[in-house]
Amino acid sequence: MSALLEVNGLTKRFGGLAVVEDVSFSLAQGGRLALIGPNGAGKTTVFNLLCGVYPVTAGSVRFDGADITAMASRRRIGVGLARSFQNIRLMPHLSVAENVMLGQQARASGVLALLSPLRGSRWRREADARLAAFGLADVRDRLVADLPYGIRKKIEIVRAMMAAPRVLLLDEPAAGLNSRETA
Ligand SMILES: Nc1ncnc2c1ncn2[C@@H]1O[C@H](COP(=O)(O)OP(=O)(O)OP(=O)(O)O)[C@@H](O)[C@H]1O
Ligand SMILES: [Mg+2]
Repeated sequence: MSALLEVNGLTKRFGGLAVVEDVSFSLAQGGRLALIGPNGAGKTTVFNLLCGVYPVTAGSVRFDGADITAMASRRRIGVGLARSFQNIRLMPHLSVAENVMLGQQARASGVLALLSPLRGSRWRREADARLAAFGLADVRDRLVADLPYGIRKKIEIVRAMMAAPRVLLLDEPAAGLNSRETA
C-alpha cells in the first residue's frame, strides 16, 4: 500500500543551527506514528514544516502521492492535513461551539460561509455531534476563556477534526493534562 504521508530527508536550519536533520518517515492510511524527543529536539519544527509554516531547507513532503513541499500552508488543510498546537490557539472570547465551527473553514468557502444560515446550521450540527463525542456537550455555549486548560486542549482537537482531516497532527496533546484527561 502506498503511503498517505511521505517525508524524505526533511531538513531545517535557522541560520547556522540545524534543528531538523534528514528526517524520513512514511505514514500509511489509518496508521499512527509518534515523534519522541527531549525539549528542543525539533518536534514542533517538524510539524511546522509539514504544515508549511516554515519553508524546508532540504527534503520533501508528499501527501497522497502529490509533492506538497512548497504548497502554501493555508492550502494544506484543504488537502487533508490538520493540526493542533502545543500552545493552545483558540479564540478566547468566542464560545466553544463557535471555535469548533471555525475548524471547518477549509471545507466551506471561507469564513463568510459560516454566516449563511443554511450552511451555518449544518456546521453547527456537526460541531454539536463532535463536541458530544468528546464529552463536551455541556460546555458548548461557554466562552473558551472561562474554561480550564484540560478542556481547552480537547477543544483544539475537536476543532482540528472539523476540517475532516486525513492526517491529524497533534503537538503534545497530553502535555499538562492529568491521567484521566489524557485517557
Ligand atoms: N523560528 C526559529 N528560529 C530559530 N530557532 C528556532 C525557531 N524555532 C525553533 N527554533 C529552535 O529549534 C530547536 C527545536 O525547537 P522545537 O520547538 O522544534 O523543539 P521541540 O522538540 O518541539 O521542543 P519542546 O519539547 O520543548 O516542545 C530549539 O533549539 C529552538 O530554539
Ligand atoms: Mg514542541
